[in-house]
Amino acid sequence: MTERIWIIGASSGIGEALVREWLQHDVKLIISARRASCLEQLAQLEPEKVIALPMDITEAKSVIDAANEIGRSGGVDRIVINAGTCEYLDAEDIDLKMVRRVMETNFFGAVSVVKAGLPLLRQAASVGSKHRPELVFVSSSVTYQALPRAGAYGASKAALRYFAEALYCDLQHEGISVRVVSPGFVRTPLTDLNDFPMPFLIEPDEAARRIVSGLSGKRFDIHFPGRFTWWLKAIAMLPGRLRWRVAGRLSRHREQSGQPVN
Ligand SMILES: NC(=O)c1ccc[n+]([C@@H]2O[C@H](COP(=O)([O-])OP(=O)(O)OC[C@H]3O[C@@H](n4cnc5c(N)ncnc54)[C@H](OP(=O)(O)O)[C@@H]3O)[C@@H](O)[C@H]2O)c1
Repeated sequence: MTERIWIIGASSGIGEALVREWLQHDVKLIISARRASCLEQLAQLEPEKVIALPMDITEAKSVIDAANEIGRSGGVDRIVINAGTCEYLDAEDIDLKMVRRVMETNFFGAVSVVKAGLPLLRQAASVGSKHRPELVFVSSSVTYQALPRAGAYGASKAALRYFAEALYCDLQHEGISVRVVSPGFVRTPLTDLNDFPMPFLIEPDEAARRIVSGLSGKRFDIHFPGRFTWWLKAIAMLPGRLRWRVAGRLSRHREQSGQPVN
């Protein structure tokens, strides 16, 4: 039986690369995002394997309508919540509206998809689908160690990771798998806006290969590239003051204030 995968946030970057990568496998893809024209173009790659289903993750009705449509047209085995946005925080002037905006897409949008999508996965579990029903959350390696200016983005992705871990505890008893993907820097429209050096930047097709291959294994957290993600994990394990000294050295605020970091 062909696996049915719903990729949310498929219109560009990592999501688009995931569509291209998965098309090399025996799958049926339902692809969502707000930009319908990008989705339609992608679906034209293999119209018999891809269905474009435009949706705004921040609009509960849009998410429910999409899930209902999938329910009517054969259900789904795996849901990949990849939609996301990134904005940076200025510690001198906290922009509350921006923080809410980022949380609305990256965290509450994902929660909304889980609420609407879980009945579909439960349905797949109940009919004994050959493919273990699965929820995949695209978080970020920034959750391993807080980075300067990432207060809004990192907090949204850390919330997402915790949400996923809590769901893992519950859903394992229903035969539904939960996984997290934690990329380092990937060259996409999202990171094209960054005005700082991005160590170990990789291309979206490499990210997509890592994700698809990681999901074929059993690891809960699929993180890459290791040179970057292990570096962040190592900083997070440094003893107290040393950890914050290293992280603080990356801050622009330090340059602006002229204060040494202790
Ligand atoms: N690039 C990196 O270095 C990196 C690193 C770690 C984690 N990530 C995560 O990877 C995911 C993909 O990001 P990307 O780098 O590939 O950036 P991207 O090219 O900007 O892709 C973001 C995707 O999310 C969709 N999206 C955004 N808001 C949405 C909404 N309200 N409703 C539905 N879809 C929405 C976008 O489609 P529409 O605009 O058409 O809606 C687009 O398809 C994000 O969750 C990001 O946080 C990226």
